[in-house]
Amino acid sequence: MSRPIIDVSGLHFTYPDGHQAIKKISFTIHQGESVGIIGANGAGKSTLLMLLMGVLLPDEGQIFVGDVQLAKKNFPIIRQQIGMVFQDPDDQLFMTSVYDDVAFGPRNYRLSEAEVEQRVTRALELVGIPHLRDKAPFKLSGGEKKAAAIASVLSMQPEVLIMDEPTAALDPQARRRLLTLLNSFQHTKIITSHDLDMVLETCSRIIIIKEGQIAADGPVKGILGNEQLLEDCGLELPFSLQTCPICGSKKR
Ligand SMILES: Nc1ncnc2c1ncn2[C@@H]1O[C@H](COP(=O)(O)OP(=O)(O)O)[C@@H](O)[C@H]1O
Ligand SMILES: [Mg+2]
Repeated sequence: MSRPIIDVSGLHFTYPDGHQAIKKISFTIHQGESVGIIGANGAGKSTLLMLLMGVLLPDEGQIFVGDVQLAKKNFPIIRQQIGMVFQDPDDQLFMTSVYDDVAFGPRNYRLSEAEVEQRVTRALELVGIPHLRDKAPFKLSGGEKKAAAIASVLSMQPEVLIMDEPTAALDPQARRRLLTLLNSFQHTKIITSHDLDMVLETCSRIIIIKEGQIAADGPVKGILGNEQLLEDCGLELPFSLQTCPICGSKKR
């Protein structure tokens, strides 16, 4: 298998109010994998992502990104390797034009304006919104905002793309466009969601989080087809694997 890109061991995190949100979690993600992290509301998915990004710091355990241990002094290197698309694009877009938002990261790395321009153009093309480059982000639709937020991460050319609930609040067409886009990326991807049909289409491996612990970790079909396991973890079979309510037949 390809090289490990994220290695998490014995990760434990307690919020200041005493709530233990992540309890001794360990897993390894290899380069090029697409991993869906699923679980009921409050299971600990977003907390885990914030630990992976170094936004929260664990009480115990370690995270390695490649050979580099996640620690404050290594944040600049780590942030170049991992890019996170937040659940709400309004948390990611804050400039007066889409161009400036997508250029923000590369400019921070003091790249020449010519290289910044090249990266922005490429990122906007990848997500299919080159025509929106001069628009104000607050004037975009939900799907367009999501695309702009993804472009603002891609312009940093990260190795790993992390997304928290990427299809939340998208209409069906925007959701479909996003799925096609995600499937076209060669990046290592880590996606949290309770849109299990999306995860089924975009991920090859699933980690289920239940009350801050890993309840299952394995290939997507085995896990998303296991009704009992999903039910035990507060989830349901993806629609596409359920029996048709009209004719009673299984879709797959
Ligand atoms: N700032 C916080 N302080 C205390 N508890 C929190 C905080 N943020 C989240 N939690 C709790 O931690 C648990 C995990 O939350 P979260 O990671 O957001 O879950 P998920 O993303 O799976 O819905 C939940 O029980 C939630 O209420
Ligand atoms: Mg969440």
